[in-house]
Amino acid sequence: MRVTDLAREFLRPVISLGDIVVDATAGTGQDTLFLSQCVGETGRVFAFDIQAAALQQTRDSLQKNGLADRAILVNQSHEQLVSALWDAAVGEQAVKALMFNLGYFPGGDQTIITKAETTITALNGALTLLAAGGMITVCLYPGHTGGAEESEAVINWCKTREDPFISHHFQTLNRKSPPTLAIIQRMR
Ligand SMILES: C[S@@+](CC[C@H](N)C(=O)[O-])C[C@H]1O[C@@H](n2cnc3c(N)ncnc32)[C@H](O)[C@@H]1O
Repeated sequence: MRVTDLAREFLRPVISLGDIVVDATAGTGQDTLFLSQCVGETGRVFAFDIQAAALQQTRDSLQKNGLADRAILVNQSHEQLVSALWDAAVGEQAVKALMFNLGYFPGGDQTIITKAETTITALNGALTLLAAGGMITVCLYPGHTGGAEESEAVINWCKTREDPFISHHFQTLNRKSPPTLAIIQRMR
């Protein structure tokens, strides 16, 4: 099973119709599409990406599926996610789920990658937005240049989160440098 599929399976029972959720790395738009289906007509998905081409692909995918009105596409770094959501009147502990799928835009420029420092800033912001009972998923890719350092930084960050947060890390055991999945939940 791929970590991207595993992340969705963990999120599915957490997200309800009408929820506000975030895709912190829109990329091809597959996670934004998944989240748009989970939140229904009354919910909203905020999707971030620093690449206009990624957001265009996300927009196309949403339009093809008739779900474009459920998503707000933000052409900014996910470091800005707290201020962007506050601007949209979404405050602390109002977001049920945030997905991070790190690395590069599949099919795009592989040198434009998420980076440890900005990812950790975004994750710290994500914790302030996360609702009780909510969940953050982070797909980690140690296989590309810079990916191992970023994965290690995220795992160390996860290990040091305190109550009411609880963190988990899932990985395939019999592959070399496999993608892995970190999950952070807000228990209350
Ligand atoms: C692995 S892809 C995401 C895949 C996507 N979730 C999907 O369903 O296809 C990673 C994406 O993160 C984006 N990215 C890189 N740095 C970023 C940042 N600081 N803020 C937001 N997005 C960023 C890249 O442009 C790329 O599109």
